[in-house]
Amino acid sequence: MVQYTGCSEPILVCQVSGTVYAVQDTCTHDTWSLCDGYLDGHIVECSLHMAKFDVRNGEVTALPACEALKVFPVKVEDGHVYVEYQEEEMMGRG
Ligand code: FES
Repeated sequence: MVQYTGCSEPILVCQVSGTVYAVQDTCTHDTWSLCDGYLDGHIVECSLHMAKFDVRNGEVTALPACEALKVFPVKVEDGHVYVEYQEEEMMGRG
């Protein structure tokens, strides 16, 4: 697992069985970096309170987290990994 920090939020990038996945790196339970955790197959475990997520779809597979991770489309070309990331627009209140 590696953490990419070139966006407004850190992204976890990992490879499982030859496929590259990208999800938000911040645990939805208590904002801990998932890159500090463990990857077992497609399941990443947060090292703080042991919530688990599936990197294929971001879904929670073990509590205490309840909210899924954001998942970003990935493309691999000529050995380079491209993650499709769009900055969220800040909406003002009028
Ligand atoms: S911060 Fe990840 S499980 Fe609590």
